[in-house]
Amino acid sequence: MSQNSAAVLRSARSALVVGPVPMPEPAPDEVVVRVRAVAVNPVDWIVQGTGSVTYRWLRSPAVLGSDVAGEVVSVGTGVTRFGVGDRVFGLATGTDRGRDPMHEGAFQEHTALLERLTAPIPSGVSDAEAAVLPLGASTAACALFQPGHLGLAMPGDEQRGEGDRGVVIVWGGSTSVGMNAVQLARAAGYDVVSTASPRNAELVRSLGAEVVVDHNAPGAVDDLVAGIDGRRVVGAVALGKTSAAACIDVLRRTGGTVLAMASTPVTLDGLAGRRRLFPAMLPVFGRIGITMAGLTLRARRAGIRTAFVWGSSLRDDAIGPRLWGEVLPAGLADGSLRAVPAPLVVGSGLAAVQSGLDRQRAGVSARKVVVTL
Ligand SMILES: NC(=O)c1ccc[n+]([C@@H]2O[C@H](COP(=O)([O-])OP(=O)(O)OC[C@H]3O[C@@H](n4cnc5c(N)ncnc54)[C@H](OP(=O)(O)O)[C@@H]3O)[C@@H](O)[C@H]2O)c1
Repeated sequence: MSQNSAAVLRSARSALVVGPVPMPEPAPDEVVVRVRAVAVNPVDWIVQGTGSVTYRWLRSPAVLGSDVAGEVVSVGTGVTRFGVGDRVFGLATGTDRGRDPMHEGAFQEHTALLERLTAPIPSGVSDAEAAVLPLGASTAACALFQPGHLGLAMPGDEQRGEGDRGVVIVWGGSTSVGMNAVQLARAAGYDVVSTASPRNAELVRSLGAEVVVDHNAPGAVDDLVAGIDGRRVVGAVALGKTSAAACIDVLRRTGGTVLAMASTPVTLDGLAGRRRLFPAMLPVFGRIGITMAGLTLRARRAGIRTAFVWGSSLRDDAIGPRLWGEVLPAGLADGSLRAVPAPLVVGSGLAAVQSGLDRQRAGVSARKVVVTL
């Protein structure tokens, strides 16, 4: 088999360096993929810049990256859904605690993927388009469907009883996770109200949100409450640093009782750019701790259950195989799900991955930074 190479994080807070790495061999429940496109998520530059405190278990060298599209080059002995040559996309979870970030990381020519977190790329969908989905769709699915979060019915579940399923609030509907939350909630039969900048409102509506308010407008909470119009709220998904506080206000006023938070309430981007984390990290983590405690207290007083989402935790429960084995393939085939946000291809080759991380960190609006390999 050919050699493997990767954009490697050789030590904490260093730039990614392209070099040779071991070729992964598939475990019984894995496929090995020749990677053709990767997408970049905020967590990639957050781990690169702050992993020594936020991902303390992560040893270097490490290959970062969650979002993979490519073709299968070998399969584990227990794999039944894929064969060599299949075009697939999937979620690499190598940076999680207890996983191996050299074996299973997106930013390399060949990576292992768990069969249960992999799906076929439909014909007509490019590798760059497929690569936008894995972490966005997985995080959205954790927030919406895991019993510890909103615990909603999934697309394809039978509807029990008469009447509406209720309203889901997605604050941050034009983020990558938010766009997927909107379309997954809609595909599962829920009404969706959401937020976006005015320039992205139509896009978020096209994914199934019936009401989209401007998250930067001072009256955003009032506008969402008005849009819900007295209907039964089944929960909220909060994306963006001020989203949890706003969602608690909306839930309190509409009788909703569950909040799934995916973003830290204080951004880590200033910290991620520093050569030394100490002592600059102390006030940042202090603010995160105090803000989280305040939010949790406010929520509890209002009878709202809150929990923080971990977007790859569906690897270890029933939601992962359902999402990747049924929901994504069926939804992409029948058009109820789309590959969103649209890819913003910033370069080709492993050497372009670092600039992809820098581009993501500089900020995107309803686009997913992608590098083709
Ligand atoms: N916990 C987890 O497992 C997990 C996993 C993935 C992501 N995340 C977190 O989830 C968040 C979204 O990640 P992502 O990759 O989806 O982000 P992203 O696509 O990079 O987010 C960019 C979007 O943020 C939106 N935005 C700007 N101001 C906002 C506000 N006040 N409220 C809500 N949205 C606002 C912008 O929308 P407009 O241009 O329309 O304003 C822009 O489209 C990040 O905080 C990320 O760290 C967590």
